Amino acid sequence: MKLWDVNWSDYATAYDLMATHNPAYQEIRERALLEFGKHPFREGDRIADIGGGTGNFSIAIAELCPQCEVIHVEPDPTMASAAESKANKMGLSNWSLVRSSAESWIREAPSLAGVITVHSLYTMPNPQHTIQQISHKLLPGGLWFICDLGRKMRILDWAAYLWRANAKRYGILRTLKMFSRGYPVLTANRAISKMQHCGTFWRHQSEEFSTVLLDSGLSIVRQEVAYRGYSDLAVCLRST
Ligand SMILES: C[S@@+](CC[C@H](N)C(=O)[O-])C[C@H]1O[C@@H](n2cnc3c(N)ncnc32)[C@H](O)[C@@H]1O
Repeated sequence: MKLWDVNWSDYATAYDLMATHNPAYQEIRERALLEFGKHPFREGDRIADIGGGTGNFSIAIAELCPQCEVIHVEPDPTMASAAESKANKMGLSNWSLVRSSAESWIREAPSLAGVITVHSLYTMPNPQHTIQQISHKLLPGGLWFICDLGRKMRILDWAAYLWRANAKRYGILRTLKMFSRGYPVLTANRAISKMQHCGTFWRHQSEEFSTVLLDSGLSIVRQEVAYRGYSDLAVCLRST
């Protein structure tokens, strides 16, 4: 029996509240859209958002790259339904949902011209192996935007950061309300931190991260530390 587990469905209920009020998350989103916006995708190219959560990345990419087919891969039913209802509201015809884990989907997945994984790889049972499998599905020259939590989540540090960022912008009352509605986020992040601590979730430093990417047949165009020092971000191309 696991002592700790992340309830992604509970997390999903407050996920977008966190996403909207977290400037560090918004920075990753802007970085990703910049990379997808300038990559030379062609008509009919496939892009997968693996562990896509509530669709904050895949939906924006589907809008940005109307010539591409965007596949949103997500195992949690609440996360997946939240993404689906947003995509349906926007009437996106180039966005589709696969309710599956990365490990199950990737074996039979079609070849891909682009992949995005944001804060999902570290939660997977064998991230290093899954990175290799995803890389093998990428077409030569294909783009992979990866941002992955590598360092242990310090809950108080994040609470202080979110408080500062929001109290200044929205005032104390609204920020207090946001914190109380965001309780599932706190619970999920506490579980994430415990699972990182006991080794269930992958923790990495930038050097180890880049070694895994290079060993998987990727060339790294850019690599940086993101998400306030907690995550490793890499823009990769599949080597020919
Ligand atoms: C922290 S959320 C990130 C969601 C989204 N990428 C974002 O940044 O907004 C992590 C996501 O990974 C998903 N996940 C967990 N295990 C997974 C697996 N084995 N395969 C694919 N996705 C997984 C969770 O359900 C959750 O939606």
